[in-house]
Amino acid sequence: MLDRFTAPVGTTLDRFIAQKQEQFPYATGELSQLLRDIALASKIINREINRAGLSGIEGAAGQENVQGESQQKLDVVADVRFTRALQKGGETCGIVSEECDNIIDTGNPHAKYIVAIDPLDGSSNIDVNVLVGTIFSIYRRKSPIGTPPTMQDMLQEGTEQVAAGYVLYGSSTMLVYSTGYGVNGFTYEPSLGEYFLSHPGMKIKDTGNIYSINEGGYYSFPQGVRDYIDYCKEEEYSGRYIGSLVGDFHRNMLKGGIYIYPATSKYQKGKLRLLYECNALSFLAEQAGGMATDGSRRILNIKPTELHQRTPFFVGSPKMVQKAMDFLNEEE
Ligand code: AHG
Ligand code: MN
Ligand code: MN
Ligand code: MN
Repeated sequence: MLDRFTAPVGTTLDRFIAQKQEQFPYATGELSQLLRDIALASKIINREINRAGLSGIEGAAGQENVQGESQQKLDVVADVRFTRALQKGGETCGIVSEECDNIIDTGNPHAKYIVAIDPLDGSSNIDVNVLVGTIFSIYRRKSPIGTPPTMQDMLQEGTEQVAAGYVLYGSSTMLVYSTGYGVNGFTYEPSLGEYFLSHPGMKIKDTGNIYSINEGGYYSFPQGVRDYIDYCKEEEYSGRYIGSLVGDFHRNMLKGGIYIYPATSKYQKGKLRLLYECNALSFLAEQAGGMATDGSRRILNIKPTELHQRTPFFVGSPKMVQKAMDFLNEEE
């Protein structure tokens, strides 16, 4: 029997999803089932990650993905696991994944949702046992039920998301998501194989003193970004950068802070991908009272034109994001 220090603090994810569904009399359960499918796949990935050093799935897979990155074995494993869970779950007609060049047709033409996913975020950290994550967005398809998924289904503005979330495979494994009515965090209890509500109603602080950016790129950043970094140092903020977007984002959600991945000499449009990294985290940030822009525009209003398009990304406490944008505007 779990004692009071380890007893789960709240309801299970399944029960929470069911309770939320009951609040919508017209809900037919497909979105609930889709969220459960994602949670199931995350439990399988969690187990793979926790054994990575023993099961030989560390290291590079020996091929490049469409991003030009050296795919890690766990990138591929995570992509296969999530794709299979969504195919078998039957609620998703199409997927756009960081690890696949084109739209994945799940063979469920009667499903009404599409999913954009970063199966494994922060994969450069796998071999050094540092926190990694998964990021996902869920949209209603635009094309007729009963037909294959289309590019139009995939290239929707972030404001069209019906749900978004991330999984954090860290010192504990957490699933954090929103369906547009606030952000809730669940912690995984592996001995029970269940997620339990541990962070109800997550809200980000208006401001904070943590800034997350890879300062190695300082001399190639836009002048306004350099000026903002200098401001953070003058204010004696704390620099915290894990190299896993999900980890940096989650810490800033809980403590207040800003994450920036600007345009650099190597990534003229920024490194992070709009469809399966920035839109999901921007949806969550705004749901928690935060702000997310590309330095001038609200991320969620960007009309995508390509599956793997990149964008500069400024996300976190609203007063900090606004301050960074003020520095960028001064530059103009
Ligand atoms: P992914 O592992 O899904 O390709 O994402 C990596 C991203 C993000 O997680 C992280 O914040 C950023 O790349 C780190 O980039 P740098 O190593 O250039 O700082
Ligand atoms: Mn990658
Ligand atoms: Mn990523
Ligand atoms: Mn990834």
